[in-house]
Amino acid sequence: MHLEQKVQFLVVLGLAVVFEGAKCLDQEVIVAYGSVAVLPCVDDSSAVSHPSAVYWSRIVDNVKKTVWRREKSGLEFRSVKSPSRVYCPAPNFGNGDYSLHINGITDEDGGRYICEVEGKTSTRKTVMLRIVKVSFSPPVVIEGLRLDTKCVISPKPQIKKLQWELNGKATGNTVLYRVSQSDSGNWTCRVSYNNVVGKATAFLQVRGISTPPADSSMVYAAVGSSVSLPCVFTEGLVQHSGIWKRTSTARNSSLPFPLPSSLHQRSLVPLSSRDGSAWIETVEDGDEGTYTCSGMMKLTTIQMKAQRSMQLVIARVLSSSSKGQMTLTCHLSNFSQVTSYEWLRVIYGVNNTQTVTSVSTSNTVKIPKVSVQNIGEWVCRYYGKEGLLGNATYQLNMMGAQIGQSDSKSGNKVGMVMGLGFLFLVVFLILFQMYKNYRRKKMILLYPALETIVHEAATEQERIERRHAKLNEACGGDLKSVCV
Ligand SMILES: *[C@@H]1O[C@H](CO)[C@@H](O)[C@H](O)[C@H]1NC(C)=O
Ligand SMILES: *[C@@H]1O[C@H](CO)[C@@H](O)[C@H](O)[C@H]1NC(C)=O
Ligand SMILES: *[C@@H]1O[C@H](CO)[C@@H](O)[C@H](O)[C@H]1NC(C)=O
Ligand SMILES: *[C@@H]1O[C@H](CO)[C@@H](O)[C@H](O)[C@H]1NC(C)=O
Ligand SMILES: *[C@@H]1O[C@H](CO)[C@@H](O)[C@H](O)[C@H]1NC(C)=O
Repeated sequence: MHLEQKVQFLVVLGLAVVFEGAKCLDQEVIVAYGSVAVLPCVDDSSAVSHPSAVYWSRIVDNVKKTVWRREKSGLEFRSVKSPSRVYCPAPNFGNGDYSLHINGITDEDGGRYICEVEGKTSTRKTVMLRIVKVSFSPPVVIEGLRLDTKCVISPKPQIKKLQWELNGKATGNTVLYRVSQSDSGNWTCRVSYNNVVGKATAFLQVRGISTPPADSSMVYAAVGSSVSLPCVFTEGLVQHSGIWKRTSTARNSSLPFPLPSSLHQRSLVPLSSRDGSAWIETVEDGDEGTYTCSGMMKLTTIQMKAQRSMQLVIARVLSSSSKGQMTLTCHLSNFSQVTSYEWLRVIYGVNNTQTVTSVSTSNTVKIPKVSVQNIGEWVCRYYGKEGLLGNATYQLNMMGAQIGQSDSKSGNKVGMVMGLGFLFLVVFLILFQMYKNYRRKKMILLYPALETIVHEAATEQERIERRHAKLNEACGGDLKSVCV
């Protein structure tokens, strides 16, 4: 009822306006700041006969000022203020279209315009041009600070409705007390009033750390593999180095927590590179935990610290066996974001071709018997809501023991060096003993009379040596027989 009445009223009003003459029938045009405005002025009756003159003027302080004019003679006049921004495409005149185009609209272009066409009959139309503009205060902001978004329409209509969108999604927040990277992007203000709609968009840049855009992201890596901890700054960084810290560890160590020995920090000289990502060459057990990168951001006179924390999650395969059956378990230092697992058998063929077979969809896989068919690579893939997060590899050998995780190079290297050193020591001791025995026998042959003395001396020396050897840790366990 109410609505009907209103519509009726509007229709009556509209008719009244039409009857009263063109004076008050403003056509509303609303355009975004910086865009091209087209002020409509169409007169079908003059389409047939070429008009003698077209005048476009604007009301400024109740005074009519010429904006663009085309005389009977064909001469064109433009206002001195904005000569090249204002034009009427002449080819349209044939259709009776005398619309005025204005490029690079600014707030000051808003207001009432009048189009007058003189031909066989004369026409007069008025157009109300309004400009919408989105602005931010301050125009650029550092994350964590306050920001106000504004939608200004000039001249302002009496009643209006505003709707905001951020990157195409409706949003109600226009005053942001703590700006974050998720607030950066295209802010659109949609205006509607009296069936007229318009919109304007502005891009907001938030200074700080663009990658990762928010705290608490997880970075997954298998033990022995390498991993990158991302940290990319926006413009405005004034710090050169030392941007990485460890803010939590799995181990109970005291503050400050040590960074992994194979963690490399990228140099931020020159600062224009802005990529402060770190790199862990070989992830080791115990490297899991929270890592934080931070940097000082500068904006005119304001300095503010931007920081981002992320969690490094370590994946590894645990093996256990009982009664000849082997069980492999996919273990993650934090599985709160893992939704599913998959175990794969990877077989390498000629030319390094891979054959991948899925064998289990739980986090464990049981291998009934360690046989020739089963040796090789077993890979556990783990998935999150958004898909694959990573994988961990286990190398199964004939003994049913792990040869070593595919990538654990440094761990193996240390073991290998220690093993080889031990082996050399043993071989050396054996050879030394053999050499001594040989020397002793030779001396006994040369001087039979001295045999007893030499023998006794030798035995004495041997006893001392034996004691030394026993003290020597290297000569423990199975090797005692060799040393004695
Ligand atoms: C913002 O708009 C520009 C121009 O339309 C576009 O190129 C850009 O991708 C948009 N940015 C976002 C974050 O949507
Ligand atoms: C960690 O260390 C502190 C002191 O060094 C000790 O009091 C605490 O019990 C330890 N916590 C764990 C979980 O071992
Ligand atoms: C795992 O990560 C979540 C955050 O995603 C955290 O709340 C939780 O404390 C973490 N668990 C462990 C054991 O670190
Ligand atoms: C392996 O590679 C060689 C040379 O690239 C090629 O000639 C041969 O056909 C390949 N074999 C198979 C089984 O793909
Ligand atoms: C495991 O991850 C590595 C590194 O992302 C990738 O190169 C490899 O193909 C993956 N293996 C499997 C079986 O998915």
